[in-house]
Amino acid sequence: MKKLAVFGGSKTRENPFPKYPIITQDEKNAVLEVLESGNLSTFIASPGEQFLGGKKIREFENKFAKYIGTKFAVAFNSATSALHAAVVAVGVRPGEEVIVPPYTFTSTATCVLMHNAIPVFSDIKNDIYCLDPKKLENVRTNLTRAVIPVHLFGHPCDMDEIIEFASKHDLKIIEDCAQAPGAEYKGKKVGTIGDCGIFSFQETKNMMTGEGGMLVTNDEGIAKAAQMVRNHGEMINLAEKIRSYRSEILGWGYRMTELEAAIGIAQLSKLDSYNEHRIKLTSYLTEKLKSVDGIKHTKYDFVKHVYYVYSFSYDVKKIGITREKFCEAVRAEGIPIYGGYVKPLYLNPLYLEKRAFAYKHHSGTVKYEKGICPVAESLHENELIMIPICRPPATIDDMEDIVNAIRKVIENKDELLHE
Ligand SMILES: Cc1ncc(COP(=O)(O)O)c(C=O)c1O
Repeated sequence: MKKLAVFGGSKTRENPFPKYPIITQDEKNAVLEVLESGNLSTFIASPGEQFLGGKKIREFENKFAKYIGTKFAVAFNSATSALHAAVVAVGVRPGEEVIVPPYTFTSTATCVLMHNAIPVFSDIKNDIYCLDPKKLENVRTNLTRAVIPVHLFGHPCDMDEIIEFASKHDLKIIEDCAQAPGAEYKGKKVGTIGDCGIFSFQETKNMMTGEGGMLVTNDEGIAKAAQMVRNHGEMINLAEKIRSYRSEILGWGYRMTELEAAIGIAQLSKLDSYNEHRIKLTSYLTEKLKSVDGIKHTKYDFVKHVYYVYSFSYDVKKIGITREKFCEAVRAEGIPIYGGYVKPLYLNPLYLEKRAFAYKHHSGTVKYEKGICPVAESLHENELIMIPICRPPATIDDMEDIVNAIRKVIENKDELLHE
């Protein structure tokens, strides 16, 4: 009789993990208040201040800027639109190049193409899965204008080295903090270190509004340009008595609604405690899995990691079974666990076949092919494992099930070897 659930043995866990996101009476009351006010957007109800958003939008922006520690925050309907606006606002010109990691959500790179500029992929580190500062110089050309470090899974990038590289070559830095609200690098919140930072409030994120995003910056010029991009490129003239509908730049309909902003205000007040909860759960996992030879989770001492996702590197040689077999067996035990995150972006048809207008007016050369970022490829194909459910309202007992399932699979790996 085999013990592992994948071969018909009893499961470590029968019940699903708790539902996410957490929606309490706070979020319900916030939405109801907006509905009762009758003002669901108010961006365009009248000229002047209204171009900057309704009451809830401005309250959310003010509170978020204060929380992060920047002078300005500009709300968007997604982090993708905030990223697009950021590329425009920092002054990247069509045809120029922006360095991005390949191991990230698609928008980190497509936001560059949206502005008809060229994403150039630079490899990541194999411990924290973020841009490797030592490799940036290899992909820099005289067309490089900016770099987008992604604080992947909630762990901050090596910002000192990235800043040094960017300052040396006069490049702008857009921090992609979509997965890292509240994370800190050497005591500084991510989003405050580069020229601007962007956040996502899509519903799986550490704080959420359903869909939504935010751009933060200390630079008034970047904030103003971002406000225009989100507002159809319409000039924002607070002194105007009658709206002039003046199209100043190319812009889009990227505005957040009052409903989302109201949810955001409620969620922001809980972000720190939610993050602490994630840290407590994942610290437990790290401690309990420390003794498993072949599983290694890395967190640098000088950062606050906010664990959007719990991840670790898997050493197939030490464990002796392929990552795919291991994950399949742990999943059969009732634990959501996955090998790899996204395929390195440049291996998608969009890049391999250069299916974007931007490439038509690029005077440089950019290569997208297997082998350009070997660390990202190897992590994706063999090493990285992620567990996305280490978040509130899950409990230490839920984490105990994860530990027990992993231990059970390793203790009974002979069953997998001799199937
Ligand atoms: C690193 C990263 N950047 C950008 C985004 C885009 O966020 P949104 O879905 O809010 O557009 C995401 C979303 O998952 C992300 O993980």
